[in-house]
Amino acid sequence: MLDIHPHPRPDLANLLSSQTELARCIRERALERWGDKHATEIVGRHPTLIRALETIARFAESDSPILITGETGTGKELFARAVYLLSRRNGAPFLSVNCAQYQDGQLIASELFGHKKGSFTGALSDHAGVFEAAHRGALFLDEIAELSLSAQAMLLRTLGEGEIVPVGETRPRHVDVRVIAATSLDLKALVAAGRFRADLYYRLRFLQLEVPPVRQRGDDWRLMVTHYLERLGVSRARHKSFSREALALLSAYEWPGNVRELKALVDTGFHLSDSDVIEPRDFIESLEAAARAEQFSRLPLLDKASAVYRRLRAGEASFWEVVHRPYMNRELSRTEAAEIVALGLADTGGSYKRLLSVFGIAAEDYLRFMDFLRHHRLKPHA
Ligand SMILES: Nc1ncnc2c1ncn2[C@@H]1O[C@H](COP(=O)(O)OP(=O)(O)OP(=O)(O)O)[C@@H](O)[C@H]1O
Ligand SMILES: [Mg+2]
Repeated sequence: MLDIHPHPRPDLANLLSSQTELARCIRERALERWGDKHATEIVGRHPTLIRALETIARFAESDSPILITGETGTGKELFARAVYLLSRRNGAPFLSVNCAQYQDGQLIASELFGHKKGSFTGALSDHAGVFEAAHRGALFLDEIAELSLSAQAMLLRTLGEGEIVPVGETRPRHVDVRVIAATSLDLKALVAAGRFRADLYYRLRFLQLEVPPVRQRGDDWRLMVTHYLERLGVSRARHKSFSREALALLSAYEWPGNVRELKALVDTGFHLSDSDVIEPRDFIESLEAAARAEQFSRLPLLDKASAVYRRLRAGEASFWEVVHRPYMNRELSRTEAAEIVALGLADTGGSYKRLLSVFGIAAEDYLRFMDFLRHHRLKPHA
């Protein structure tokens, strides 16, 4: 039977070209290892991202600990998984511990290194720590800056000797685990403040990767937006895209929350838009307040012009009805009318002749139309 899709399939060529060769290799290995559950997809082609990918490929060849730094939401965990997937350890477990989750120094030590029954209140049975569970694999220590000082001392020993001593035990056990630590804080400043051990810091930062923020990755945000839209489109069987205004707004945005924010924004836009085109109003609330205030002043204008233009393009009304008449009645400003003309020209590749059919204007009215544009200075750059 023929497989008929009401919506176009995602543009695979586009999707693939938004990822480098190395990123594709990582993606395939992740699929093999974890299935769809942990999509390890690194989208982007900007030189700063390519440098980061090349760095992790080199890191994957050694067993030394790694420190991954970078702002919130840049992809630190993603890169940690990628190093593991590229390394010879990729058949053994990858485990992840968030050090900030444990208020109590004892608990994190027990989570990492295990404990002996009765070694502290609540230690009801022997417990193997994640270091043992990750044997021959890799351990991701997220938010390493939050590690208690006692756990830091234990970790230092593990990194040096390849040994752990479970809480309440005296005999060390050998472990073979690659440690990948991450932080979005300035670890060096914490060392200066006495909150992080200097020796551990130097041991960890021997191999260091700084994941660049989205604002330093040029146009990669567009590739990521498209990527996540396509993913959503496939899972919801409905394909949507951002309007020109939405993209213009986003191109000036700084992405303080980086890729995590971008992903959430695509999600919000996709779910809140009631048509297949996502407009600024569908996601503007989720932008950072300062950026929002700046954009809001432009928004009503862009929105009105684009709403009128959408009606024209859909063939619901003609230029005379929804642009000419309201303009003459002063219901539509000159800027708005000019914006509508510019939107049309962008779609017709600058051809005024083809604009006639988009605007629902009869061929014999061509001169009248052009005179109107000229007289009221509605042509772009006129
Ligand atoms: N280049 C990229 N292409 C596609 N998705 C990405 C990219 N970088 C990050 N992501 C996605 O962005 C989200 C955030 O990434 P991740 O959790 O690794 O960031 P993080 O730096 O660990 O954040 P935090 O500091 O908040 O813990 C994840 O869903 C991840 O898959
Ligand atoms: Mg993280």
